Amino acid sequence: MSRILDVKGFEMLDSRGNPTVMSEITLDCGIRSIAFAPSGASTGAREAVELRDGDALRYSGKGVLKAVSNINGPIKDILIGRDPLAQGEIDDLMVGLDGTPDKSDLGANAILSVSLANVKAAAVLIKQPLYMHLASLAGNSSLSMPVPMMNIINGGAHANNNIDIQEFMIQPVSTPNFREAIRMGTEVFHSLRNLLISEGLSTGVGDEGGFAPDLSSNDAALDLISQAVDLAGYKLETDIMLALDCAASEFCRDGVYRMSDDTQVYTAEQLVGYLEKLCVKYPISSIEDGLDEMDWEGWKLLTDRLGDKCQLVGDDLFVTNPSIFSEGISQRIGNAILIKLNQIGTLTETIETINLAQSSGYAAIISHRSGETEDTTISDLAVATGSGQIKTGSLCRSDRVAKYNRLLKIENEMKFEIPYRGTSEFARGR
Ligand code: PGA
Ligand code: ZN
Repeated sequence: MSRILDVKGFEMLDSRGNPTVMSEITLDCGIRSIAFAPSGASTGAREAVELRDGDALRYSGKGVLKAVSNINGPIKDILIGRDPLAQGEIDDLMVGLDGTPDKSDLGANAILSVSLANVKAAAVLIKQPLYMHLASLAGNSSLSMPVPMMNIINGGAHANNNIDIQEFMIQPVSTPNFREAIRMGTEVFHSLRNLLISEGLSTGVGDEGGFAPDLSSNDAALDLISQAVDLAGYKLETDIMLALDCAASEFCRDGVYRMSDDTQVYTAEQLVGYLEKLCVKYPISSIEDGLDEMDWEGWKLLTDRLGDKCQLVGDDLFVTNPSIFSEGISQRIGNAILIKLNQIGTLTETIETINLAQSSGYAAIISHRSGETEDTTISDLAVATGSGQIKTGSLCRSDRVAKYNRLLKIENEMKFEIPYRGTSEFARGR
């Protein structure tokens, strides 16, 4: 049986040019694997802690040398000689060593990158594709290709423009497989680009690769996408559904919501009314973080009013945390959860949250962060857990496209004998 021989941490760069952590695990049989931690910009207040050095003389305080030295010191010491196939034990050891509820001692960036490097080494060791090993860790035997949520217009904290809603996404739902979904989405992306050029609008992109033009309103973004779908020769609702991430915590102050495209200040109830109207005007299958992460009363109202028509996704709301999510389930808040590995900090806890969603009738959407790297583990995780959906940005920038390319490769390896969940209840909302 092979054992962990060495664990190393490195300070690398993410897609925004900020430092991030990479880990490398070496097994005594010579197998070596690496994994990166991603990084958010519109983070939830209750996420596990991303440890940054705070040394203003390096990377404006964003260096990760402390996290790296935690890997090269205590994490390495506790993991050497361990069995890489015992993922749960490895993650538990790191959680125990950290000893805080939010992983603030060792850093969730340090812990997660080691957790993922380990699972990759283990998959190589047992000569399985990563998604197969992840599926057995998750106890899942129904693998599927996820419906992508492609973020083609960026606003909010991800773009230097005046749009309040953070993400305007498309979900291809009428194709028989993932490969055709990628083609459909990419064709819409390119027709949107042409449309922006013809209207004299910027084709510069935001953090997740979506266009980031200045627009007069949220409706203007949805109208442009609707036109782009049409120009590409597809039909909204039949072929393509729209999805939003409001990231409402970013524009909530003192219990009210202030959107800059409108002079009006919204109460939670008024914002719910606004979202309801948007859903009547456009075929919107999914709304993420429609209200602030602390506004659970507002969320209850949103769920009562829209929960049977639309997927309502908690991202900042649930922060991939099984105990916060359990509370949400018992209060019937939302009907879906966004899954971000670094919000909780280990693979094992992430899988626990996904399984909790699936056993509670909530959809689980596997997600990237706005700060990403070439790491494509989330693609394998989406297939392995049969989550049915993945959110991984636009159809340009290698940090985003790498995830789609990995999924294309998986579908090919499976000889297209793996279901694509395009017409599932998840993709069409509820
Ligand atoms: P973040 O944004 O990675 O900047 O938190 C992504 C999201 O809100 O879904
Ligand atoms: Zn979000």
